[in-house]
Amino acid sequence: MSFEQMWRELATVGRSAKSGGYFRQPFSSAERECAVWFEEECARRSLDITRDGNGNVIAWWRPAGATGRGVLTGSHLDSVLDGGAYDGPLGVVSALAAVEVLQGRGFTPSKPIGIGSFVEEEGSRFGLACLGSRLLTGATSASAACELKDRDGVGLLDAMSDAGIEPDLGPSDLLDQVDCFVELHVEQGRDLVDRGVPVGVADMIWPHGRYRFDFTGEANHAGTTRMEDRRDPMLTYAMTALVANEQARRSGQRATFGRVDVQPNGTNAVPSRVTAWLDARAESSEHLESMLAEIERLAEERSGSDGTAVQVTAESVSSAVHFDRDLAHRIAAQEPGERWPIIATMAGHDAGVLCAAGVPTAMLFVRNPTGVSHSPEEFAEMGDCLAGVDALADTLERLSG
Ligand code: GLV
Ligand code: MN
Ligand code: MN
Repeated sequence: MSFEQMWRELATVGRSAKSGGYFRQPFSSAERECAVWFEEECARRSLDITRDGNGNVIAWWRPAGATGRGVLTGSHLDSVLDGGAYDGPLGVVSALAAVEVLQGRGFTPSKPIGIGSFVEEEGSRFGLACLGSRLLTGATSASAACELKDRDGVGLLDAMSDAGIEPDLGPSDLLDQVDCFVELHVEQGRDLVDRGVPVGVADMIWPHGRYRFDFTGEANHAGTTRMEDRRDPMLTYAMTALVANEQARRSGQRATFGRVDVQPNGTNAVPSRVTAWLDARAESSEHLESMLAEIERLAEERSGSDGTAVQVTAESVSSAVHFDRDLAHRIAAQEPGERWPIIATMAGHDAGVLCAAGVPTAMLFVRNPTGVSHSPEEFAEMGDCLAGVDALADTLERLSG
């Protein structure tokens, strides 16, 4: 089945009629529908499907003569809340299409080629990005994952059981067959647009942290409490959001408060508590740490004058990832004298987790005309998607030949 047909089939799953965005949270019915679709496509191609107790799947193309450890590609099928169609699924669908391109070329690999689908890459349900690959590699322990709950208080194990998956969290032998990993992804910025090329190769991922800020104050009447008598955590939060933005701008980094929970969340009450999540990313761990320290210092200073308290908890912190240089340069090399550009990414990926676990890893990016991502506006032209499939097929052929 062609890339276009597969893309059309998947396009309706988990799509909100209201916003046009996707809600494919892990172990939800929409995400499971994508997972079933993926396994059906793998079965249609007679791939050998292997699963682990974390919900990850790798399907292997192992024709006669393909032996030893294989070349893994693939990505994830979950989305952020109200996300785009491309972040994740583009890598999975392109992988299926690339295997078909290779089969159409009459190519027989001498190493197996695997297509992976990793669960909860976005951390949109349980708060921890790349949960599936982190559990698989041991970067997150099973006991820590057992504590994770979604916004409705549903634990990870229950969510998996409800979705018909028997959980067996922790490192598995799924990666034992993997020699290297190449993840194809939609670009989440405008680097390739500015360079005027459809495909690029990533060489690094910026360090990334997610921090929970708990601002506490005193609930009180919105009408009768004099302004000078309040201990309003919303003010401390608001000033912290402003200083985070300012700090990131000043130093060329990224800082975003994208999620807020207010108690009791009533229009006519001063809140008792505001919990807000900061997503911060920077060019190096030193830059990340110093930006966070400054935001924390200013939040505490402000809470002193507001009569509130603030507590900061790091929910996940990932160091910079430097992909395999040789692999990246081999992938980037095209016709003599032509190369795909090498670019950095500020987004997190399972490729980063596998790389940190010692798997030689690289990433291919497909141009996104608007640069918008984690939004219904995320987009890639069909011609560029097909260029990505060809680039991935060439890469897999080169690495597995
Ligand atoms: C995942 O896409 C992230 O970078 O948050
Ligand atoms: Mn992604
Ligand atoms: Mn994403």
